[in-house]
Amino acid sequence: MALPAPGLDPWSLLGLFLFQLLLPFPPPTTAEAGGQGPVPRVRYSAGDRRRALSLFQQKDLRDFDMLLLSDDGNTLFVGAREAILALNIQEPGVPRLHNRIPWPASDRKKNECAFKRKSNETQCFNFIRVLVSFNATHLYTCGTFAFSPVCTFIELKDSTLMPILEANVMEGKGQSPFNPVHKHTAVLVDGMLYSGTMNNFLGSEPILIRTLGHPVLKTDNFLNWLQADASFVAAIPSTQVVYFFFEETANEFDFFERLHTSRVARVCKNDVGGEKLLQKKWTTFLKAQLLCAQPGQLPFNIIRHAVLWPAGSSGVSHVYAVFTSQWQMGGTQSSAVCAFSLTDIERVFEGKFKELNKETSHWTTYMGSETSPRPGSCSVSPSSDKALTFMKDHFLMDEPVVGRPLLVKSGVEYTQLAVETAPDVEGNRHVIMYLGTTTGLLHKAVVSSNGSAYLVEEIQLYPAPEPVRNLQLAPTQGAVFAGFSGGVLRVPRANCNIYETCVDCVLARDPHCAWDPESRTCSLLPTPIPSTWKQDVERGNPGWACATGPVGRSHQPQSRPQIIKEVLAVANSILELPCPHLSALASYHWSHRAAAIPEASSTVYNGSLLLLLREGAGGLYQCWATEHGFSYPVVSYWVDSQEQPLALDPELAGIPRERMEAPLTRMAGGAALAAQRSYWPHFLTVTVLLALVLSGALIFLLASPLGALRARGKVQGCGTLPLPPGEKAPLSKEQPLKPPKEHRTSASDVDADNNHLGTEVP
Ligand SMILES: *[C@@H]1O[C@H](CO)[C@@H](O)[C@H](O)[C@H]1NC(C)=O
Ligand SMILES: *[C@@H]1O[C@H](CO)[C@@H](O)[C@H](O)[C@H]1NC(C)=O
Ligand SMILES: *[C@@H]1O[C@H](CO)[C@@H](O)[C@H](O)[C@H]1NC(C)=O
Ligand SMILES: *[C@@H]1O[C@H](CO)[C@@H](O)[C@H](O)[C@H]1NC(C)=O
Repeated sequence: MALPAPGLDPWSLLGLFLFQLLLPFPPPTTAEAGGQGPVPRVRYSAGDRRRALSLFQQKDLRDFDMLLLSDDGNTLFVGAREAILALNIQEPGVPRLHNRIPWPASDRKKNECAFKRKSNETQCFNFIRVLVSFNATHLYTCGTFAFSPVCTFIELKDSTLMPILEANVMEGKGQSPFNPVHKHTAVLVDGMLYSGTMNNFLGSEPILIRTLGHPVLKTDNFLNWLQADASFVAAIPSTQVVYFFFEETANEFDFFERLHTSRVARVCKNDVGGEKLLQKKWTTFLKAQLLCAQPGQLPFNIIRHAVLWPAGSSGVSHVYAVFTSQWQMGGTQSSAVCAFSLTDIERVFEGKFKELNKETSHWTTYMGSETSPRPGSCSVSPSSDKALTFMKDHFLMDEPVVGRPLLVKSGVEYTQLAVETAPDVEGNRHVIMYLGTTTGLLHKAVVSSNGSAYLVEEIQLYPAPEPVRNLQLAPTQGAVFAGFSGGVLRVPRANCNIYETCVDCVLARDPHCAWDPESRTCSLLPTPIPSTWKQDVERGNPGWACATGPVGRSHQPQSRPQIIKEVLAVANSILELPCPHLSALASYHWSHRAAAIPEASSTVYNGSLLLLLREGAGGLYQCWATEHGFSYPVVSYWVDSQEQPLALDPELAGIPRERMEAPLTRMAGGAALAAQRSYWPHFLTVTVLLALVLSGALIFLLASPLGALRARGKVQGCGTLPLPPGEKAPLSKEQPLKPPKEHRTSASDVDADNNHLGTEVP
C-alpha cells in the first residue's frame, strides 16, 4: 500500500530514516542462535517470573549431587557435600527440610588428602556418591571421604535420618570413586550393590564390582576387560542381568587419534565367580559398542547418562541415553538422545564375539565353535573351565547395539536425563524427556510418533552457567527436581498457564497441557481426562482443535481478534506497538487493515511496530504469528487520532475493547510526552541535530567500511532513544500483570539457627 502523496513531507521521512538508522543492532534471531536441531518453542531465562521454580538451599551446604526419592514419593533424600538431607516435598513450593545429618571426612583423612597435594578447598571433603534405599528401615550411602572412600548404612525412623556412627562406617573402595570428578554409578539389586567406578587414588583402575553380598565379584584387571579410562554413567538391572553404561577408549578400531566409544556391559545376577578359574571374578562379563549416530554423520561417541523406560519393564523397554561427541561439529559441541531397545541389546549379546589377534593386535570376528552352554550366558557353570577360559579373551561382542536418534541438537551438552510418559486427551501416551545441560539449562522434549523429538520449553535453572548434577522425577508431585552446586530446585513439569489462548495452548504441543473451554484457560490435564478439553499433541493444529461449532462450517478460529487495544495518538508522532513473541517457532508480521504496512512510514524493531503516525494512517494494526502453517493475530490495536476520530470498522463490532492509557510513543532525548501536546517541534529540533551528527558519521562510514560499525556504535551511544520510564511497553504480555510474590522468605523458611532454608524463586 503506497503512502498518500500529499502527506509525504520530507521532514517526517527524514525523521523516520534517522530513526531507523539509530535503532540499536537487532537482537539475534532464533534461527541464528539455535544451530542444528529443534528450537525450544518457549525460552525462560533464570528467575523468569513466568516460570515459577522453588529453590531449596542452605548457606553452609553445597554440591547437591545425589537425589533419591523415597518409596512413597513424599521425601527427597539428598546427598550434599559432607551432609545428607531429608526433604519433605509433599507440599508444592520450596521443599521443607525434614532433617539433616552431617557426614564430614575426618580431620585425619583431610590432612592426609592435603598432604597428597589435593586441594583442601575443593577436593578434600566427603562428596556423597552413592545413595540408595537398602530396605524399609535403612539407606546405604558412600562418599569420597577426602580421597579415601567409605560407605555406611543410615537408619530411618519415619523418614528421619539417624546420625551416622563412626563404628558403622566401612571402607568403600570400588563403590565410591576417590576423586569427586570421576564418574561412578551404582544400583542395588536383590540386596547387593552393583557399582562401577575408579578403584584407585590415581583414577587409572576402573572396576565393576558387586558388594554387600557373597561372593564379592569384580572385573579382572589383567584381562583388560575395561580400558584404563572407563567412565561409568549408569547401571540398569533387568530380569537376569545388570547392564552398565560407560565410555572408554576403543582399541578395536584403527584410528589415528584416541577414539572414544560408548559401551553397554552386562553381568548375570546369578554369577558366583569361577571355582578354579576366575575366582571372585565375573564369569559372565560381556561388553558391546553402543552406537548413536545420524546416518552418514560422525557418531555421538561419548555417553553421558542413561535411564530405562518403562522402569517396570513390561512391554518393550527402551534405554534412553544422552551422548556428546569428541568432535566439535561446526565449531560447537552438540548432543544427541538415542533410544536402544532392550531386545536389541539382548540380541547383540547373543551374537558373535570379537577376539584379539595377539600377533597383529587387530580385533577380528571370532569364527570358531562355541561350547554349550554358551560362554558368558547366565547358565554357564562356575566349574566349566573351558567356557571360563574362553571368557577371558572373548568379552567384546562383534556387533554394535544401534540406537535410534530421537534428538540431535547443536550448541548444548546434555549431561542428565529423566524420562516419563504422559497421556494426551485421546489417551495416547507420549514419551517426555527432561534434559539437563552443562550450562544449567533444562529442556523439556516430547517424542512425536515419527520418532523425532521437539522441544516444548527451555529453562535456565539458575544464573550461573554450571552443570545440572542430577535430575529426579517425582511423578506424584508433578515435578522434576534438579540438583546443582547451590541447591535443589523443584521444577513443575509443565507451565500451562503461560499459554493464554486456545491456539497457543494447542500449538505448544505439551501433552501435560490442554485447553479447558469452560474456564477458558490452558491447564494441566487432570485424570480422568475431561472429554471437552482441547489438545492436538501430534499435529498441533489449532484450526481443528480450537474450532468453535461444527468443524467445516465454523470460521477460522481466532482470525477475529479476541480483544482490541485502543490507542489514541497524536498525528505525526512515532508510535511503538509491542507484540510479545512467545513462540520461537512462529514467524511474525504486521498488517494494517488486512494489508501489509507501508515500509516508508514504519519499521519493526524487536517485534514492536514503530509507526510514524501520518494522516489517514489510523485504524486496525495487527501482529500476526504464523506457526505450523496456521496464522492468528497475537495482538490487535485500533489506532485513532485525537484530531480526527475514525469511525469503527463494522467488521470489528462486538469485539471487546481496552483503552491503552499511556500513549506508546518513542521520543528522542527521553523527554516525556504529554498526551495533549504535539511534540512535533521538539522532534524536528532533535532530528536536525541528529542529521548533523549523522552526516559526519556517514562520511566516515563511506571512507572506511570497517570504521562503519564503530561509528554507528558511537552515534548510538549518544543518541539512543530510551523509553520514558512510565511508557515501558505496557502492552507486553511479558510484563507481569499482578505484583510478583518474588523473593518471599516467610518466617517458616528460617530455622532456629536463622539458616536460610529456602527462597521462592519466581
Ligand atoms: C587449606 O590449607 C591452607 C594452608 O595449608 C590454609 O591456610 C587454609 O585455611 C586451608 N583451607 C581450608 C578450607 O581448610
Ligand atoms: C535393613 O538392613 C539393615 C542393615 O543390614 C538391618 O540392620 C535391618 O535389620 C534391616 N531392616 C529390615 C526391616 O530388614
Ligand atoms: C517428524 O515430524 C516433525 C513434525 O511434527 C518434522 O519436523 C520432522 O522432520 C519429522 N521427522 C522425521 C524423521 O520424519
Ligand atoms: C525486546 O522486547 C522485549 C519484550 O517484548 C523486551 O523484554 C526486550 O528488552 C526488548 N529488547 C530490546 C533489545 O529492546
